[in-house]
Amino acid sequence: MIEKKTQTIIVTGASWGDEGKGKIVDYLASEADIVARFQGGNNAGHTVVVKGEKYKFHLIPSGAIKNKTIVIGNGVVIDPKVLFEELNMLESRGFTPSLKISDTAHVIFPFHILLDGIEEETKGNYAAGTTKRGIGPTYSDKAARYGLRVFDLLDESIFRPKFNRLYELKLKQYKALTGKTEDWDLDREEIIQNYLEYGKKMKPYVISSAYYLNSLLDKGKRILFEGAQGCLLGIDHGMYPFGTSSNTWAGGVPGGCGVSPTRIEKIIGVIKAYTSRVGGGPLPTELEGDLAHQIREQGHEYGTTTGRPRRVGWIDLVALKYACMINNYNALAITMLDALEGVNPVKLCVGYKYNGKIMDSWPIHSEIIKKCITEYIEMPGWAARPAEEWSNIAKQGFDSLPDEIKNYICKIEEILGVPISVISIGPNREDTILKEQFWD
Ligand code: GDP
Ligand code: IMO
Ligand code: MG
Repeated sequence: MIEKKTQTIIVTGASWGDEGKGKIVDYLASEADIVARFQGGNNAGHTVVVKGEKYKFHLIPSGAIKNKTIVIGNGVVIDPKVLFEELNMLESRGFTPSLKISDTAHVIFPFHILLDGIEEETKGNYAAGTTKRGIGPTYSDKAARYGLRVFDLLDESIFRPKFNRLYELKLKQYKALTGKTEDWDLDREEIIQNYLEYGKKMKPYVISSAYYLNSLLDKGKRILFEGAQGCLLGIDHGMYPFGTSSNTWAGGVPGGCGVSPTRIEKIIGVIKAYTSRVGGGPLPTELEGDLAHQIREQGHEYGTTTGRPRRVGWIDLVALKYACMINNYNALAITMLDALEGVNPVKLCVGYKYNGKIMDSWPIHSEIIKKCITEYIEMPGWAARPAEEWSNIAKQGFDSLPDEIKNYICKIEEILGVPISVISIGPNREDTILKEQFWD
């Protein structure tokens, strides 16, 4: 009898992004054949550090530096300029992964980027503080069925009329939103020529992600799906409108790659030892002052994409429990435990109180969340140590972790009811402890 091996694993961020997904995906990619993105675009910033060398990915899946086949699925929105910049960066650093791009992925144009900023200004208190990469406007056009897809760039006779229709519509929108009567400072023909050129360059990589990925699964290959952003930023299950425009939870994979939910075997959530958020919207466990400063500096909490300082707070087990429920995680990876060093005590948010009563769910609506009072338990923190010492602990394995960290992990597992099977105590690939083999 042929033994069945695990072929599909999804990794998603369990909170507001920047949980360390890039690092965990790179780590787990060793035994995968393919790493695929299924949503988002270059709003993402995923960092992988190998032997002190830092790689920042925005659009290309983090498996790239293991020279895996990398797939940009149909659920992703693609800025072709960024795509080729990233490919060039990889090539100049000696990596030539095999790239596949879905023919039905939607394309970001310069006016989407322009409108991203303008739409934000109209939102007042409900602005999410976007990355201004054109993500929201491109997904809006996709949903409204005005958008252009990779396929459309490959043939000028298809591209021109569709592009012109979109261009006219976006220009009207621009004028309506800004009150301006003159055109924007974008040259229509220049965009057309640039994008036809991008189309030519993309052509060799273009596939149908559904046919491609399913046929590889039929051949016994292994696919690692890399989530971007975090579940609490998701369009359907996040804190709308303070989030992004795609399905960031594991449910984004079937829609964003064309692989059936029944083919998904394992789902891993990435959590941070504390919480961070960049952009607008309530952050219930947010810290301010010296402690926030200490954690932000120790964790280098500045956006990978925009460089903005990230807001930080205590770990929020109420929100994480919700993420565990929707994703039904098989296991969790926890990162940044080293970055919480020297903080004593550490606090864990275990309840939200609203109108004097403890809530039994994460209240999803920002209007309610901002009125909630967070309840905490305290635990002893762990001592600060030099980075080399953290690396040595990682080499020696789980038993050599400080007792305070083991207790912290145990408490989180107990409250969330999900095992923590990957422990990250430094940015380097090697600063990782694996308690369970996922690719059995
Ligand atoms: P992602 O968007 O979820 O991939 O996360 P980012 O790459 O935006 O942010 C995570 C940051 O933390 C990156 O700079 C990583 O190199 C770094 N990082 C990941 N895991 C750890 C860890 O366990 N400890 C420390 N100190 N840094 C980590
Ligand atoms: P990774 O994959 C953290 C946030 C933005 C903003 C909101 C909407 O690196 O974890 P958008 O540009 O998507 O329309 O912005 O979502 N945001 C992220 N925050 N990490 C990310 O990606 C993010 N991508 C978007 O700050 O609040
Ligand atoms: Mg990031």
